[in-house]
Amino acid sequence: MADTAFGWGIVGFGWVARDHAAPAMLAAGHRIQAVCDPGDRAREIAAERFNPIGGVHERLEPLLNDPAVQALYVATPNHLHRSAVEAAVAAGKPVLCEKPMAATLADAVAMAAAVQRGSVLYGTAFDQRHHPAHAAMRTAVAAGLIGRPTAIRIAYACWLDVGWSMTGEGDNWRADPKRAGGGALMDLAPHGLDLVEFLLGDPIAQIAALTQRRVQGYDADDGAVLIGRTGCGVLVQLHVAYNCPDALPRRRLEVLGSAGQLVAVNTMGQDSGGQVTFTDVEGTSCVLPVPDASACPFARQMAAFAQAVAQGDQDGFSVRRDLHTMHLLHQAYAGDDPCR
Ligand SMILES: NC(=O)c1ccc[n+]([C@@H]2O[C@H](COP(=O)([O-])OP(=O)(O)OC[C@H]3O[C@@H](n4cnc5c(N)ncnc54)[C@H](O)[C@@H]3O)[C@@H](O)[C@H]2O)c1
Repeated sequence: MADTAFGWGIVGFGWVARDHAAPAMLAAGHRIQAVCDPGDRAREIAAERFNPIGGVHERLEPLLNDPAVQALYVATPNHLHRSAVEAAVAAGKPVLCEKPMAATLADAVAMAAAVQRGSVLYGTAFDQRHHPAHAAMRTAVAAGLIGRPTAIRIAYACWLDVGWSMTGEGDNWRADPKRAGGGALMDLAPHGLDLVEFLLGDPIAQIAALTQRRVQGYDADDGAVLIGRTGCGVLVQLHVAYNCPDALPRRRLEVLGSAGQLVAVNTMGQDSGGQVTFTDVEGTSCVLPVPDASACPFARQMAAFAQAVAQGDQDGFSVRRDLHTMHLLHQAYAGDDPCR
């Protein structure tokens, strides 16, 4: 019997693809049709663990030419997103591309133009939109649980030294601003900026940032504080860092309102879990119920993208929204006066 499962082509089989995205595709009931990666070890692992029927390739072309590849998932280092996305669009393949959309605003502008010309579904892989706790927070905010939203405060940090690697292969491209497009701000802030829009339905309109190179000794920033304001006037404060030991408290998302607060601890990241606490105006706290709390954010993201491909429904994925986030990142860096 023919395999009718949704078929993915994976471009770049490093940490996020092998540990999170590929298992999530299978968890969503999809098929990994083909993989490409120039790295010998990455290709060996793809073949051993997932044995794609369309093969494991050094180059992208076989994936573009495979009619059973229904969408591409791009998880290369940031500076290579543009070429893969443009090739996917030229081949008429829908494409889910990892965050940040690109290493530079110019690349992102070109990608968005290609997507709009090609009328192909594009999504930046903001998996944290699909975290069950974040979905529950969004529902609670929309239902008026915290009254009028006033501010969002986020801390999202980790430890990333110059030799950091999750796979033990390749060099640490995140420490190289040319390939990464920046440092901690470029890598970690996109999630928070996107979550503000997701939680409030109200994108950030103005932004400013200060970066630091405080601990790690590479050229990329190892910490940043961003402040912003949404179109409706909600204030945003975001601290991101590569200089926070992983054992310390480092993942916190607070949504403040005129009638209460939601505080999520350890929800930001690749996995489900964490906890959300609601505190009302009397100061009484309770745990916010989260439907489907253990659902995998990556698997939900893959399912949502496949559904969007099937139904032509682009509500959940928007190249215009993702390009706006890239403008915010660009403005944040442009207004900074780096302290070295
Ligand atoms: N959403 C998340 O939570 C999350 C988490 C980690 C990484 N990411 C994003 O995913 C992307 C990849 O990050 P990573 O940590 O997996 O990096 P990584 O270095 O572990 O993997 C990148 C892979 O891309 C391969 N590659 C290089 N050039 C290629 C090319 N031309 N064609 C195909 N493959 C190529 C490399 O050989 C490597 O295997 C980045 O954009 C990163 O920001 C997102």
